[in-house]
Amino acid sequence: MSGTGSTRTIREALFPGRPGGAVTSSGGVSDERAVQRILERHGRMASQIIAILQDLQALCQYLPEAELRFISREIDVPLTRLYAIATFYKAFRLVPRGRHEISLCTGTACHVRGAMRVKDAIERELKVAAGGTTPDMRFSFETVRCLGCCGQAPVMMVDGELVSRLDHLTIGKALEKYK
Ligand code: FES
Repeated sequence: MSGTGSTRTIREALFPGRPGGAVTSSGGVSDERAVQRILERHGRMASQIIAILQDLQALCQYLPEAELRFISREIDVPLTRLYAIATFYKAFRLVPRGRHEISLCTGTACHVRGAMRVKDAIERELKVAAGGTTPDMRFSFETVRCLGCCGQAPVMMVDGELVSRLDHLTIGKALEKYK
């Protein structure tokens, strides 16, 4: 199966204009050549499976089931082994992420300065609990421990950029610019 023709990938539907994504709505691998290139790059060797999964995640932003099944077949590694690796390493994701990633610090300094009120406000604003993704795939929201900017607490990272001195009363306004 290939990604040509009128088939629109789920990733394209969720993240128009963003690279990555290879799962069709029928559950097949839509960009088989891209996955094959990853396998070739690593010599189609089972011993390179972590690097293969890293490249797959770079391609799709997460590890889609269809691609994992395809890789399992292609290099003869049990699917259960792929899932064991994918769940063991925190860096791997098995579900797609939102267009914008919010990491709110709840470390000690941020906690003392109101991070939990900010967390509650974000959850109310986005209607999603920490650790989740909004149904429209606009935001993924998680809490993390110290981001190393305690002097500017409370802080969060949005798409890798620091947002400091958060205020639970204005957090909704701060999130408006992320479409
Ligand atoms: S505790 Fe939040 S940045 Fe250090």
